[in-house]
Amino acid sequence: MITSVRLAHLLLKECIHNGDIVIDATAGNGYDTLFLSDCVGDAGTVIAIDIQAEAINATRQVMELHQRSNALYILGDHAAMNDALKEYEGNIAGISFNLGYLPGAIDHTIITKSSSTISALNACLTLLHEQGCISVIAYRGHDHGLEEAHAVEQWMHALPSQEWHVVSISAINQSTTSPVVYFARKKSLRPQ
Ligand SMILES: C[S@@+](CC[C@H](N)C(=O)[O-])C[C@H]1O[C@@H](n2cnc3c(N)ncnc32)[C@H](O)[C@@H]1O
Repeated sequence: MITSVRLAHLLLKECIHNGDIVIDATAGNGYDTLFLSDCVGDAGTVIAIDIQAEAINATRQVMELHQRSNALYILGDHAAMNDALKEYEGNIAGISFNLGYLPGAIDHTIITKSSSTISALNACLTLLHEQGCISVIAYRGHDHGLEEAHAVEQWMHALPSQEWHVVSISAINQSTTSPVVYFARKKSLRPQ
């Protein structure tokens, strides 16, 4: 089965290369960070952000288990990533969001929220370089998830078509609450 995570990874792999600097804006249990780490290789860097210490610890553990040492870890709100990552402005190849709560956590109240997700998406605009990309997996089946997916969709929809390619992918023969992948890639400034 092609899961939303697999789809997001396939799209991210298209625009991330060896040596790139990328961001996992919702590190969680570290599986997306590990995937991104493999994409950028030892010459690249993954900046893994999560608002929960439990998630940052889990991500560190997964990376250590796989003997990966190409990540920086930030415990904090991705809505503030512009301030935290000023030195990387215009140098980021890809940014991944896998929304919702930490799978396996007891506390499901720590969850991504529309307002901070949109602030983080706005931060992406200055962090990404030419042809950089943003991937967002939104889960429409939990409280607030549908509202958050709508907010992300509106944000993606408003990206100027001269500057961005934007797609959304979701199953069309499943429940309307199944996950949706939003993917935006900055166009090249050079004539093709
Ligand atoms: C679905 S999980 C991410 C899954 C993860 N990428 C993985 O591979 O396991 C969503 C994560 O977003 C985090 N999160 C929620 N709000 C956040 C925020 N404002 N800033 C940063 N992380 C946040 C949660 O703590 C949770 O770990």
